[in-house]
Amino acid sequence: MLVPVLAYRRRYLLAARSRTRLAPSLGLSFVLSLAACGGDTSSTDGEPADSDTAPSGTPRAPDGMPASTSTPMNDGTGNGAPDVPAITDSPETPATPAGPVGTPERPPDTALTPLPAPPLTPAPDARDEPRPLTEPRSTASGFPVVENRPRSIEDTFSEFGEAEFAAGIGEPVLDAPPDHDPRRNRPPYIPDLDNVTVFAGSTLELHIAPLDPDGGVAGQWIEGSPPGSIYLDNLDTTRTFVWRPLEPDVGIRALTVHTADSEDPEVRVTYTVLIRVLMPADPSTIENRPPGIDLVEPQTVRVGDPVVIGIKGTDLNGTLTELEVLNPPPGATLVTHPEDPRIRVLRFVPDAPGTLDLDVVGRDARDPELFAEKTIRVTVRSPGHFAREGARLRELADARDFLIGFAAAPDFDTRPDGALYAAIAGEEFNIVSTENSMKWDTLNPLPGVYRWASADNLVAWAHSRDLIVHGHTLVWYTQLPAWVKRTEPAMREGHMREHIDRVLTRYADDVPLWDVVNESLEADGGYRDSIWLEGMGPDYIEIAFRQARASAPEATLIYNDYDIGWAGPKADGLLRLLERLQANGTPLDGVGFQLHVSDDFDRFDELAENFRRIALLDLDVYVTELDVTTSVEAENAQAEVYEGILSVCLEEPRCKALQSWGFTDRYSWRAEDTPLMFDRDYTPKPAYRALQRRLGEN
Ligand code: XIL
Repeated sequence: MLVPVLAYRRRYLLAARSRTRLAPSLGLSFVLSLAACGGDTSSTDGEPADSDTAPSGTPRAPDGMPASTSTPMNDGTGNGAPDVPAITDSPETPATPAGPVGTPERPPDTALTPLPAPPLTPAPDARDEPRPLTEPRSTASGFPVVENRPRSIEDTFSEFGEAEFAAGIGEPVLDAPPDHDPRRNRPPYIPDLDNVTVFAGSTLELHIAPLDPDGGVAGQWIEGSPPGSIYLDNLDTTRTFVWRPLEPDVGIRALTVHTADSEDPEVRVTYTVLIRVLMPADPSTIENRPPGIDLVEPQTVRVGDPVVIGIKGTDLNGTLTELEVLNPPPGATLVTHPEDPRIRVLRFVPDAPGTLDLDVVGRDARDPELFAEKTIRVTVRSPGHFAREGARLRELADARDFLIGFAAAPDFDTRPDGALYAAIAGEEFNIVSTENSMKWDTLNPLPGVYRWASADNLVAWAHSRDLIVHGHTLVWYTQLPAWVKRTEPAMREGHMREHIDRVLTRYADDVPLWDVVNESLEADGGYRDSIWLEGMGPDYIEIAFRQARASAPEATLIYNDYDIGWAGPKADGLLRLLERLQANGTPLDGVGFQLHVSDDFDRFDELAENFRRIALLDLDVYVTELDVTTSVEAENAQAEVYEGILSVCLEEPRCKALQSWGFTDRYSWRAEDTPLMFDRDYTPKPAYRALQRRLGEN
């Protein structure tokens, strides 16, 4: 008898779908046994998201502090946590804060258990300390630029090893709507799939032929296909995955194969096939492929600014392409990137307006007859070209004690136009968010390995231009390093708190405002599934804020989310969350509204109402990630949205800041939809002028 239901994920919201791990030989008999065993794919042990049954099951101590958290902290004794321990590293008397986002004086939080001792992962040390930049490959000026030290750390977190491969193909996973009745509509399956071995240089062909036991044609698609592979349609309801791996592909990787039911495509079954690539006995049999040069986009830069262009050679055989710039500008340097030997960095300072077409050749390391050619176009403009009329946004904002800002593209000082980017950003804004450079996967990619340089440089730049830094983000469900995702749920509280403490210990003096928890709610107002929810239940939010306050007593701490700027279940869920946090005495100072919207946004009244609801809780409001997708024809409509949202913010006394998520369309996470106030060549758009006008009004 097969055991069909192997795992349910714990749920705290009304699940839209259920996931069931299926036994290996999925088929009709299995599906029937699922029904016979009472394997109910619609059941969840979660709590509903409505306000009467607020999704927090933790009993509370009389003082309103949590009586216990779901996971006892590792205090080194193995006995869990003492009742109400003091925070050893929090100051006796928090200093009175200064600055526009400062917070009032508060007593230390006594509700937290101590941080894990010994630590769960090695603390940052001297090997993690960035060093001064050693080679000319930055455009930065006015502050000391640092780079991470090269550290050879073996990534021991590769997901699959020989043992997993030998264990055979994993169990298929059924993903179906809660009302799916497997007796009436049997899920599809894929016969004859197994893990496969292929030699580098040889061709793998994987025939994928799903079947639906009820008849009809089952759909299929794949994920995780390696570069260079193809997925052929055989035009007979089957497909073939074809791949010829090369030397760098040696190892074990997963290919995810999905099939969907012919009657109800929401009923899906997923297989994970492991592909093992081995070196052949005679490596010279492997075809030597020609090298490539990573596309370097056309650039717009300014006379007199340093320009750095990272040119990357790509060779599918894994050898280093020899790169040469045939016509370098006078005085140019070309150095190898210290962390990636495939990249050569060209640096020069253009001294006159015009167009430079830089011709690059990349030759194969084994066979110089194999080569690639590329031309990089650099348009050099005089400084006057980038002058903006009227007052700078930050002057206008400063005059009304308001924060106007942007999120900084990571490592902008190593992008070709970094000097121009920094110049405009420094002139226009008085606050900057760390778009990606303080996310967990950037800062701490492996246990005990810290990569601080990006964040350090951003902080140093911001201070050199007198901008406030807005830290983003300490606790989020995504952009986590693989090792964190693989931690034991019981240890998650410790890892989360250790992370918060380490990041804040480093940056608390320089970064006064933090997105402590990001995006913890679903569209229905319930809690988003995440490793944090899995590890601690909904209390993780409160614990995160308490730890943040303990580690950075003077910082302003906010909760940040999207789709909360208008009426609906998510905004209602947010209100319930905030009320509960406040009832528990959670240290929370404000709410960040992301506002990733489009040019047809018109729910300004609802936005004002939601700001008001937050203000009535005695919390500040921040517009944290504004961008407005548009097309060239609709830039005026985009401007109206920017201006309308700014107006709503300026009219709400508790709204402290408006930050767009980037400022030039060149570096936007939604670049194709040109959502920002400068175009990709740094020309201000109507949205810029609209902000300027509105900031200048009363
Ligand atoms: C985005 C970045 O802009 C991208 O560069 C990255 O690839 C993914 O994350 N909500 C957030 C931000 O809180 O961190 C996200 O930033 C955008 C949505």
